[in-house]
Amino acid sequence: MENKKFEEVKTQIEMDKGKINDLKELNDLKVKYLGKKGFITELNQEIKNIPNEEKKAFGQQVQELRTLFNDFYDEKKKELETIILNEQLEKEAIDITLPAVKITTGSPNILEKLIEEVEEVFMSMGYDVVDGPEIEYDKYNFEMLNIPKGHPARDAQDTFYLEGEEILLRSQTSPVQVRTMLKGNGEIPIRMICPGKTYRRDDDDATHSHQFLQIEGLLVDKDISLSDLKGTIDIIMKRLFGNEVESRFRPSYYQFTEPSVEVDISCFNCGGKGCSICKRTGWITVAGAGIVHPNVLKMSGYDPEKWSGFAFGFGTERLAMLKYDINDLRVFYNTDLREVKTFDRKEKEEND
Ligand code: DAH
Repeated sequence: MENKKFEEVKTQIEMDKGKINDLKELNDLKVKYLGKKGFITELNQEIKNIPNEEKKAFGQQVQELRTLFNDFYDEKKKELETIILNEQLEKEAIDITLPAVKITTGSPNILEKLIEEVEEVFMSMGYDVVDGPEIEYDKYNFEMLNIPKGHPARDAQDTFYLEGEEILLRSQTSPVQVRTMLKGNGEIPIRMICPGKTYRRDDDDATHSHQFLQIEGLLVDKDISLSDLKGTIDIIMKRLFGNEVESRFRPSYYQFTEPSVEVDISCFNCGGKGCSICKRTGWITVAGAGIVHPNVLKMSGYDPEKWSGFAFGFGTERLAMLKYDINDLRVFYNTDLREVKTFDRKEKEEND
């Protein structure tokens, strides 16, 4: 009779084996056989009712069942755990064959790049890079540059006034000449450039903006002539546009320089033959310049009998437009990344 029971439990175990799908079911099965009221546990408790001489054989059979179950249990547990682990590995796997996410980094603004290039050249020639306020006194922006109140030259540089008629947004970087000379106290030579923002009451179009950049330059020393200016302009233009570029002066008029000139460079695009960039003239205007007017030196404390100097002013956006072949000034001030990327590409082509 006892043998029958053993056989039953054994068959039961064999049947249950195929029904296990996960660890919970496996654990429940363990309780079914080896828990407090489990089949094998209960069978084992019957040992007390067994005659002594059969106890040993009975015990062995119980142990056999236990081993049968435990072997199955251990093996199944391992199998289920492996499945879980594999599933997890698959879920968390990193596919190293996938293309990586491209990390894009920013690049300096193209105007900033150009300014840095110009600064570098001038610094190598002993110039200081100085700064001046964008909110300026009428006195420095006009009067001390030889443009008194009511002078018609002010019409071309109408700007934004902040308080009454004395404080304005500077219409040019030239007031920094005055500020630098005042600091020099009429005693020390000056070599400076000042890149900075300027403002004018203007209607924005492809070549004009109410807000734009200039690079001012001033040199004050002894016996300075137009040829010093010419040599200096030549160096910077060759550095920006290439060694084959020539520069020339055309007579012009500014209130703070005498004589005044317009600086042209030979067209770097057509080599002077005439193209759309130079409007078929072979030359491109890049700056205003001249020999510092004696009145300007005097007003800022430099004795024109002892000192002389030259000054110049570049339009920064104009230089960048020429250098990077840009035909609308407004692209510098909108935030269209496609355009910014175009600049990067042009710059890259140039460096290749
Ligand atoms: N400030 C002038 C302008 O905005 C440019 C200029 C011309 C600057 C001659 C100079 C200069 O320093 O000497 O039109």
